[in-house]
Amino acid sequence: MMSEYTWFEGIAFSDKVVQKEILEDIRNKFVVKEEDLIMLTYPKSGTHWLIEIVCLIQTKGDPKWIQSVPIWDRSPWLETDYGYPLIFNKEGPRLFSSHLPIQLFSKSLFSSKAKMIYVIRNPRDVLVSAYFFWGKTNFVKTPESLETYFEWFLKGNVLFGSWFEHVRGWLSMRECDNFLVLYYEDMKKDTKGTIKKICDFLGKKLGPDELEMVLKYSSFQAMKENNMSNFSLAKNDFSTNDINLMRKGTTGDWKNHFTVAQAEVFDKVFQEKMAGFPPGMFPWE
Ligand code: A3P
Repeated sequence: MMSEYTWFEGIAFSDKVVQKEILEDIRNKFVVKEEDLIMLTYPKSGTHWLIEIVCLIQTKGDPKWIQSVPIWDRSPWLETDYGYPLIFNKEGPRLFSSHLPIQLFSKSLFSSKAKMIYVIRNPRDVLVSAYFFWGKTNFVKTPESLETYFEWFLKGNVLFGSWFEHVRGWLSMRECDNFLVLYYEDMKKDTKGTIKKICDFLGKKLGPDELEMVLKYSSFQAMKENNMSNFSLAKNDFSTNDINLMRKGTTGDWKNHFTVAQAEVFDKVFQEKMAGFPPGMFPWE
């Protein structure tokens, strides 16, 4: 059965995976630790890719961990019923993920030295990716057409709220030393360079062979074939059989789906909502 959204502080969630009590707890009770490493994204921006790369950096390219432990156990999602207790009860350094907008995050984050990586992707591609992905899940209401989803997306009436507000909110952290901003488009263009950037940020050193292994096992094809990362394990619970997390993995797919009129509307909204950022902030613009 498809589910309506449940709303928390004006942001849409799916009550099949997120409970309001947990969202309250995250804000009021959850304490970020100095040694935490947090993967932050608006959904469909390359979250799984980032996690895979970071896991592989941690194992110096050895694929054993990524091939034997589901991605939601390696880097659980903080806001989910499943992930929250795992993270809350874990001792020692924690790796975890979140799609929460900044205003719903634990306030302890802002006085902590925990490292955060935030991935941003062209919202047009995010919209298309989300449209195809959520349509195959059964934990959220699905639009009858891309046209409908396009309207919801621009209004922010989609899971985790407005892309524009999410990105604006988290980008306010961009000058902090413990906050690394990455772009999906740059990850695609120069994956090796991105891996090195992440290593520098994490204070990790990889030898040339180790770097090649990270590159190899985090490639689109390798991830598509890795059942621990490609969402196939979630099939029965949350989705139809043809769900495909690893759909295309390209940049600019929106051009195959937007009409000319939609592209114009989107441009206008983007300019309005993202006004004030320095030129070059968004590599696709
Ligand atoms: P598409 O639907 O455009 O193919 P998230 O992990 O945040 O849900 O994002 C999913 C998107 O990231 C999907 O985009 C998926 O194909 C893409 N992706 C995942 N792993 C990737 C990889 N190794 N290389 C390129 N894109 C990847």
